[in-house]
Amino acid sequence: MLAPVVTTIAEVRAAVAAAREAGKTVGFVPTMGALHSGHASLVRAAAATSTFVVVSVFVNPTQFGPKEDFAKYPRTLDADQSLCSDAGAHLIFAPPASEMYPEQSVTFVEVKELDAELDGPTRPGHFRGVCTVVLKLFNIVLPDVAHFGAKDWQQARIVRQMVRDLNVPVEVRVEPTVREADGLAMSSRNRYLSPAERATAPAIYKALQAAKARVLAGEIDAARVESALYAELTAIPGARVDYARVLDANTLQPIQRLDRSAVAAVAVFLGTTRLIDNVLIGEG
Ligand code: PAJ
Repeated sequence: MLAPVVTTIAEVRAAVAAAREAGKTVGFVPTMGALHSGHASLVRAAAATSTFVVVSVFVNPTQFGPKEDFAKYPRTLDADQSLCSDAGAHLIFAPPASEMYPEQSVTFVEVKELDAELDGPTRPGHFRGVCTVVLKLFNIVLPDVAHFGAKDWQQARIVRQMVRDLNVPVEVRVEPTVREADGLAMSSRNRYLSPAERATAPAIYKALQAAKARVLAGEIDAARVESALYAELTAIPGARVDYARVLDANTLQPIQRLDRSAVAAVAVFLGTTRLIDNVLIGEG
């Protein structure tokens, strides 16, 4: 059975209130649509945890820069509805921008420090847009548990911090990255890749795995792992490396020694398509 799609905040509130009235717990998966198996795994995790699962599908304008892909971001609501329903969703919230951002909306949420590296500097305002829309969605859906993907490690860290700092009564869970058979992290943006770019794209994950292997083989110097990772990525034909960093996995600050949980995180352009990926390395 297809989960219904609603477009207004009032409809979400009514459906969630009815579910609560019936004794259900509420799980939530925020997305921008163009859903794939990575999103489906979040919905399945939500369905395994909560008895009423809401998925939002909203291409959030405030998290895109002026030169980014907001206009061409894929919109596939019918397919998204089937995918969510098959994965166990009960309600899909797909609002128009006017519902989420009526005129006169001038309040934004900003998480400091965790945006100092990675996508923070290269996408100014991005996380402010993410945090603002995620907090609004939390306030609309009022979930018990919200599920995010490790694929966007920095986003998940920032949302967790926001929830902690602002006492938002939501449990944030981070689910593992789902990959294609050849290792490429699933992403709505993979569909922008030309066949040739798609064929080279798995080299990004291979480089991350090589970084992890270096650490497992005893390398303890973060800068050495980082420069080897950078070199490997720049060697991919047609790739332009936006960043390749090895950071403390929790603070997202630079580290010298890999004596704690660390994340190797990369952003790489293949043609005009920007792909991000990461793996956890180091102890902890
Ligand atoms: P979107 O890119 O659609 O991703 C929605 C959720 O799916 C995020 O939590 C993301 O980390 C997760 N996800 C994406 N690809 C994944 C994969 N291969 N494996 C596991 N999880 C994956 O992230 C956003 O949308 C937006 O910023 C949003 C949080 C919805 C706010 O607008």
